[in-house]
Amino acid sequence: EDSKKIVLEEDASLIKAKKAKISQLTELRSQRVRVFGWVHRLRQQKDIIFLVVRDGTGYLQTVLSGRVAQTYQALTLTLESSVEVVGTLQAVPEGKTAPGGHELIVDYWQVVGAAPGAEDAFTNRLNEKSDPSIQADLRHLVLRGETASSVLRLRAFLLTAFRDALTSHSLIEVTPPCLVQTQVEGGATLFKFDYYGQPAFLTQSSQLYLETCLPSLGDVFCVQESFRAENSHTRRHLSEYTHLEAELAFITFSDLMDHIEDIICKTVDLLLANPISAALVKQLNPSFEPPARPFLRISYVDAIKWLNEHGIKRPEEDAEGNAVKDESGQTKMVEHAVGDDIAEAAERQMTDIIGTPVFLYGFPAELKAFYMKKMPGKDGEKTVFTESCDLLMPNVGEIVGGSMRIADMEELIAAYKREGIDPEPYYWFTDQRKYGTCEHGGYGLGVERFLAWLANRFTVRECSLYPRWPGRATP
Ligand code: 4AD
Repeated sequence: EDSKKIVLEEDASLIKAKKAKISQLTELRSQRVRVFGWVHRLRQQKDIIFLVVRDGTGYLQTVLSGRVAQTYQALTLTLESSVEVVGTLQAVPEGKTAPGGHELIVDYWQVVGAAPGAEDAFTNRLNEKSDPSIQADLRHLVLRGETASSVLRLRAFLLTAFRDALTSHSLIEVTPPCLVQTQVEGGATLFKFDYYGQPAFLTQSSQLYLETCLPSLGDVFCVQESFRAENSHTRRHLSEYTHLEAELAFITFSDLMDHIEDIICKTVDLLLANPISAALVKQLNPSFEPPARPFLRISYVDAIKWLNEHGIKRPEEDAEGNAVKDESGQTKMVEHAVGDDIAEAAERQMTDIIGTPVFLYGFPAELKAFYMKKMPGKDGEKTVFTESCDLLMPNVGEIVGGSMRIADMEELIAAYKREGIDPEPYYWFTDQRKYGTCEHGGYGLGVERFLAWLANRFTVRECSLYPRWPGRATP
């Protein structure tokens, strides 16, 4: 009852406290500071309460003792309440550890917004761990956890590092539209919608728009959401993902692969050179090592041989593309042949055995998108190959898809025809070849896949703020 009577008031005779974020506190050691945040951990002893307060920039050990620990608010404090804490920042005593090496000895504090206790307590809601769909519904609360928030903080550093790496290669950033009327990667994965009475799509890739920027802005990149209506419930597929794409003019196919390798290695170097992002990588993926250079480059044809030499088979498909079963109901597995798609399972086994980043290049034209430049054909070869490459990473598989583009207008028009694409909506893309064409190429990198590799996450769903997959657009 006594505690109800204690009313805390900030002592106006004390030195004015400096308001600060937790990450800025090191410079304010032994000074009076004011911090706002959420109760991340709470340990109540007889006369003393230990809090860990979280503000997004870090964690702060906070000590309430004496009068400040005896108020009604102190005795009823709950996890995830928001609080204001004011006090003197002290280095932790010898032999003890705390985030940042210091703790706040509180002389004044108050609850800003209390979180419920009992039934509706934060930990009770998140405890429903058994059902992944409940976890997905509670993504907004999961995000408050240490791992989820660290992944997203690392993601922010990653995007900055990518931008710095690309900018240092003289590429500039543009923002292409998401609402479009052309497809890039095939009609099967388009989200269609009604746009003021006209058919339109959510963009699958900004590539075509980037290509149009080359004559005005030079080499360009974008970080834009791409959308894929893929009915894939895999560890690496999202319906909406962050697509980092770049396009470069007057390059060769080998320049393109060199550039991709440079950007990836430079991005990793930048992340490891920054103590904050380096610590996040260490926390999430303790055994991470920057990849050795140069990356392996294996042609598609050699990859097919490699799969067969290593006994990695593919499911046999009937004319409709359905897996064929044997008498015992097992999927029939067959050897790979030139012309076959290297499916996710085979690709994953391959990258896991190789264990380092590897470029697969030179895929057959019939497996790839309409815009890809063909490789000069060899006599007697029936398959036409393209100047295309996928970069595969251990544990994740394909993280980058890139190619050289058709530079010749007639060849592009023939490609539209072959793919059954109406050239009319593509007039602006075709014009690129009409008004001063050039050899050019580019690539798209899946940011969530890259982050899954870097932070050693099981699925790309952990690498997106609010992941979307078939059936899921909440929260
Ligand atoms: O290989 P994709 O489909 O290539 C393109 O879209 C090209 N137009 C890019 C370009 O050349 N500008 O996609 C590129 C990358 C993939 O390597 C993968 O990392 C990622 O985008 N990606 C996905 N990530 C998550 N969920 C999905 N459903 C993805 N589909 C592709």
